[in-house]
Amino acid sequence: LRNKAEMAAEINALKQEQNAVILGHNYMEPALFHTIPDYTGSSLELSRRAAEAEADTIVFCGVRFMAETAKIVNPDKTVLLPAEEAGCSLAESITAEDVRRLRERYPGLPVVTYVNTYADVKAESDVCCTSSNAAQVVESLDSDTVIFIPDEFLAQNVAQETGKDVLFPQKRERKDVGGDGAPTSGDGAPAEAADADLIGWEGRCVVHEMFQVEDVQQAREEHPDTVVLAHPECSPEVVEEADHSGSTSSMIDYVENTDAESYLLLTECSMGDNIMGANPDKNLLRMCWQRCPHMNQITLEDTYRNLANNQYKIEIEEEVRLGALEAVERMLEIG
Ligand code: 13P
Ligand code: SF4
Repeated sequence: LRNKAEMAAEINALKQEQNAVILGHNYMEPALFHTIPDYTGSSLELSRRAAEAEADTIVFCGVRFMAETAKIVNPDKTVLLPAEEAGCSLAESITAEDVRRLRERYPGLPVVTYVNTYADVKAESDVCCTSSNAAQVVESLDSDTVIFIPDEFLAQNVAQETGKDVLFPQKRERKDVGGDGAPTSGDGAPAEAADADLIGWEGRCVVHEMFQVEDVQQAREEHPDTVVLAHPECSPEVVEEADHSGSTSSMIDYVENTDAESYLLLTECSMGDNIMGANPDKNLLRMCWQRCPHMNQITLEDTYRNLANNQYKIEIEEEVRLGALEAVERMLEIG
C-alpha cells in the first residue's frame, strides 16, 4: 500500500467485507481519526457505541482497557485491538488483589472504578465511571464514604466538585482539597474511613500528570485572552487554573461551541490536531508536548494488519467478564 489515503481506503473496504465497525478514541492520530472510524468519541461515548454495535467485529482504535470494555458488553462479537501493547499507566497502577485488600480494610464501602482499568479490577468493583460522569456516579451512591480508584488526581477533582474530602491509604495521609486545591494535611497517621468521603488510590496518567500550573500561567502571560481547558486527570492545582475541565468530548464541544481568541488544551496532543482538522477557523495554541505513548501505538498500518489478519482478539474469562459487566452496566444506566 503506497500512502495513507490508499491504506484508509483498503481498511474501509476490509471493514465492509468483514462486517466490522471501527471505533476511534479522540486521541487517535489525525491520519486515522479523520479517515476510518465509524464513530469517534470519549471513553463513555465509545462504551455506549460498543454496547449498541450490531456488526460482527469491533475494531477498537484506542487502548486495551477500552477494547476490553467493548468485549465485556459484547461477549459474542470479535473485538480487535490494533496494537497489542497499547496499555495505560492508570490501568497498570492497580490490580484486582489491591481492590480486594481495600475492601477488606474498608468493609461495606462501595467501590467506584474509573474505566481506565482492566476487566479483573472492574470485576471487583461495584460501578465504573469515566471522566464524563465521575461526580454523578459518586453522588448516585447511597453511601457517605466511597472507595474511588485508581486515579489520584481525578479523585481530588471529584472531591473538589462534590464538596468532599479524600484519603489515600497507600500513603496513609489525609488530603483535604481546599479552595486552592492543595493538600492541607498529611501527618502520616492512619486515618479511619469515617474521616474521609472518598478513599482514593495513587495511580496517575503519565500524560496529564506532566502539566504544571506554571505552564498555564506562562500561556496566559503570552496570550491573555486564551481559554484554558484541562482534562480532570490533571492535578487539582492545574484544573483550578483552567477555565473548563471535562472529558475529551466535553473539551471538543467547548471549543466548537465557543468563540475565543485562542484555546490551550491541557491533554494528549493529537486531540488538538484533530480539532484543528475539523475546525480550521479555530486557533489552538501550539503548545502541545504530551503524546500518550499508548495511544501512539495505534496507527493506520496496525489497523490494516489487524483487520487483514484478524489478530489481537480481546479474550476475557467469563467469570471476570460477568463481574465487570455489572459494574459497566451500572455506569451506563447512571449517565
Ligand atoms: P475520556 O474518557 O475523557 O475520553 O478520556 C480517556 C483517557 O484516557 C484520558 O486520558
Ligand atoms: Fe491512559 Fe493517560 Fe494514555 Fe489516557 S492519556 S490512555 S489515561 S496513559
